[in-house]
Amino acid sequence: MHNVKTLAVIGAGQMGGGIAQVAAMSGISAMVYDSFPASLEKCRATHAFSLGKLAEKGKISQADAQAALARISFVSAFDDLASADWVVEAVVEDITVKRDLFGRLSAMMTREDVVLATNTSSISITEIATAAGAACHRVVGMHFFNPVPIMQLVEVIPGLQTDAAVIARTEALATAMGKTPLVANDRAGFVSNRVLMPMINEAFYAWMEGVAEPEAIDGIMKLGCNFPMGPLHLADFIGLDTCANIMNVLADGLNNDRYRPCPLLRQLVTAGRLGVKSGRGVYEHKKK
Ligand code: CAA
Ligand code: NAD
Repeated sequence: MHNVKTLAVIGAGQMGGGIAQVAAMSGISAMVYDSFPASLEKCRATHAFSLGKLAEKGKISQADAQAALARISFVSAFDDLASADWVVEAVVEDITVKRDLFGRLSAMMTREDVVLATNTSSISITEIATAAGAACHRVVGMHFFNPVPIMQLVEVIPGLQTDAAVIARTEALATAMGKTPLVANDRAGFVSNRVLMPMINEAFYAWMEGVAEPEAIDGIMKLGCNFPMGPLHLADFIGLDTCANIMNVLADGLNNDRYRPCPLLRQLVTAGRLGVKSGRGVYEHKKK
């Protein structure tokens, strides 16, 4: 049993927002914190839109959509998260930022039954956990996929210090949220991004080297390999900054520069072309 009544979500971006929505739809109260007020506002609007759409399509009742919305609160002070039973951290893919948060979380959330989970795509759970000091055995990777309301998997990653009971409770919570948990070991990128992200990076090389234009690269992979979206479109969807950060974690963690982000990917990030979330990445994206 996970015993979670209130879930704290740190980071109100595409992943944090999705995790809070799915928790609320599963009857769990979600408290969303972000250090940028504009992110909280955007997240609130996304929830209203997304749950409204589900009700409009008849996937859930209007009453259930309203009840889910009512279970989500937004807080702009970190200390307001103190009463939560479980934390999922979903801020930027940056070890310094994550370690700072886990240091502060361990000082604030001293209850032994409170799990401190990270939604990191690639960063070592063991290394994040060391920032939590004596609470390191309560730190675990709980890796949701984008878009969270649709994707079935939660990759569960124990760090070297993670208690076996914490892993079992993470699997139970993921299941209660309607997901399928699968455990992977704590190596850079785990399983998902060890396999997925080099393929996406290679698609940027194919574009940069003139093998084909983005539409052709994506079309070939969609129609030829039956991917739901091509790798460059998927990169836009994930966020080009996140893709580049993951590649750097792979290169450092696997000690091999062949994993460094493609220069064209780095250049787009430098130009602020981050994908869907900034309105332009490989492609232009209209705001919904
Ligand atoms: N939230 C909720 N529902 C959504 C959604 C969202 N953000 N995006 C799409 N949907 C729903 C649509 O409403 C639609 O529902 P209905 O069938 O009930 O109408 C359904 O999903 C299909 O959507 P669309 O018809 O608009 O488009 P599609 O058929 O192309 O599906 C997609 C969209 C589900 C995103 C699909 O393209 C897909 O599966 N893409 C690949 C996603 C993927 O690989 N994700 C993993 C990324 S890697 C990751 O997450 C890990 C990491 O660490 C980086
Ligand atoms: P995002 O850029 O959409 O959102 C990140 C949010 O974190 C922003 O709202 C930002 O304001 C907030 N933030 C940054 N620093 C903060 C801090 N110190 N305290 C509080 N809030 C802070 O990013 P995302 O795509 O939601 O990714 C979040 C995490 O989830 C990353 O670790 C990423 O690797 C992982 N992830 C992403 C995907 C994906 O497809 N995008 C999938 C699975 C996992």
